[in-house]
Amino acid sequence: MNYPLRTIQEDGDAAHCSVIILDQTRLPRETAFVRLNTLADAAHAIRVMQVRGAPLIGATAAYGVALGLAEDIPLETVVATLAATRPTAINLRWALDRMTRVLQKSALVSVANERRELAWQEARAIAQEDAAANAAIGRHGVEILKPIAAQKGRVEVMTHCNAGWLATVAHGTALAPIYAAQAAGLVVHVWVSETRPRNQGLLTAWELDQAGVPHTFMVDNAAGLLMMQGRVDCVIVGADRIAANGDTANKVGTYLKALAARAHGVPFYVAAPISTIDFACPDGAHIPIEERAAEEVGVGSMAFANPAFDVTPANLIAGIITERGIVPADQLARVKP
Ligand code: MRU
Repeated sequence: MNYPLRTIQEDGDAAHCSVIILDQTRLPRETAFVRLNTLADAAHAIRVMQVRGAPLIGATAAYGVALGLAEDIPLETVVATLAATRPTAINLRWALDRMTRVLQKSALVSVANERRELAWQEARAIAQEDAAANAAIGRHGVEILKPIAAQKGRVEVMTHCNAGWLATVAHGTALAPIYAAQAAGLVVHVWVSETRPRNQGLLTAWELDQAGVPHTFMVDNAAGLLMMQGRVDCVIVGADRIAANGDTANKVGTYLKALAARAHGVPFYVAAPISTIDFACPDGAHIPIEERAAEEVGVGSMAFANPAFDVTPANLIAGIITERGIVPADQLARVKP
């Protein structure tokens, strides 16, 4: 698989650092890049969804810490600013906690230059590890697809939102097994749901198009019918936060797909790196769900609800595809770091 772009790239060094991101608010109409020079730039990029997808939000937050320290902003202020951007994707908090731990542990933190260097190196490590984890998710996930393709000659996968390379540093989570299937020569076709109201399905269709993976775009409400008609072999989605009991928050509409999948005997998988598992969160009821503005839905002044995520109970999930293998949703302790 030839990935044309990385979602976040370094420019400069620890003292004069900036990162360049692919502006996802302009895709698929336009491939445009934005340079982040400051903590405020990084926080803005996450908040307005120039970067989006849990793993990429985490990597951007890590680089945001390095940018903030290069501006001599106190670490606590940097962390609080980034933590306030989006509430549901745990990778954000996970990356901030990891950056804080590393910076506070080091005896060098009192030396500004050394501290900047440490932050820059750790952000790079987080980004590189995300790419490696997602590649491993692809290798494990393709094992689900191989027997289906062997039996039917092709495999039909449905996904929701965008959990491809655009939503991560590289490779993607839910799309990683699909890219691995394509590389292995399997005949794979993807049902891409629109994902109202932000239409992240357009991003998925765009990146599948770039990769030459056959796919069909559909409105969200078509998912149940397609499963009823036997046109879907499995569903694979990403995750923004997985609670310790396996309940999974992902883009709103995921839960309805999981219900339809259960009704029609279609296996429903979640693909996510271990950094998306919140072992401190006991269950889905404790996951904060982001509420977004009415303008996104286009309803003007009438009463509205625009939850950006929903929660799929663990008992609807056939398995969580992680970089350490496919784990039953109720046995996540097996991959606890
Ligand atoms: O609001 P978004 O676009 O950031 O939501 C993204 C999703 O819900 C993804 O499915 C999830 O973060 C997994 S990305 C690998």
